[in-house]
Amino acid sequence: MASTPRPLVAGNWKMNGLSASQGELDAIIAGATGIAARTDLMICPPTTLLARFAASAKGTPVLVGAQDCHAEASGAFTGDIAAEMIADCGAQAVIVGHSERRTCHQETDEAVRAKAMAAARAGLTAILCIGETKQERDAGATLSRLERQLGGSLPDRLDPKGLVVAYEPVWAIGTGITPGPADVEEVHAFIRQFLTKRDTAGADIRILYGGSVKPSNARELLSVPNVNGALVGGASLKATDFLGIAAAYA
Ligand code: PGA
Repeated sequence: MASTPRPLVAGNWKMNGLSASQGELDAIIAGATGIAARTDLMICPPTTLLARFAASAKGTPVLVGAQDCHAEASGAFTGDIAAEMIADCGAQAVIVGHSERRTCHQETDEAVRAKAMAAARAGLTAILCIGETKQERDAGATLSRLERQLGGSLPDRLDPKGLVVAYEPVWAIGTGITPGPADVEEVHAFIRQFLTKRDTAGADIRILYGGSVKPSNARELLSVPNVNGALVGGASLKATDFLGIAAAYA
């Protein structure tokens, strides 16, 4: 049952992009027309470009998301941004629990869950990231790690419009290394089972694969059962590569 829910290919620009990057977004929008008939497309730029990108993408098939949010709606949290502010920028989504946030900012499952709930409160789609480290994989602890992350960070309600799960093995992010299709299939089937056990709506939640997705491996990875799209880092910075990945669904 490959890709029963409509696929989503989302680009996570991380801490990359200046105003001069507008051209890449324009090229993605220009190239999106045919692809968007089959696939949702999203770009998650740094916060500094969020309002500008949301304005440019308005009325086009390209969605715009942020990379993180605070759990509270407002308050004395210097440097943070609320989900409500992201929605106010005109964006539709927010990534929560990316491994770089979990590692560099010590975000716990509980904190990630609060952020996912904040996204729902603000009417945003949360793209909730989970994934095991190399050490956990080598110890045969991949599924138990993912089970703990899902149990601890999923929001109360599983709403297929408001929630996307992204499986991103930490060791595959930015390394050029990916798991084999059989490994991805096993993990995505496990996540699907976890979601459907929790709620029948779990059958319709999109589960993205992320970690070193490129145009050259996209078709193989995205045709795996229960892979409903990709969360793309480095390769999303170039419109041609990003569109090349999304074209896997052509
Ligand atoms: P990558 O990053 O595609 O550069 O490996 C993926 C991610 O961190 O979302």
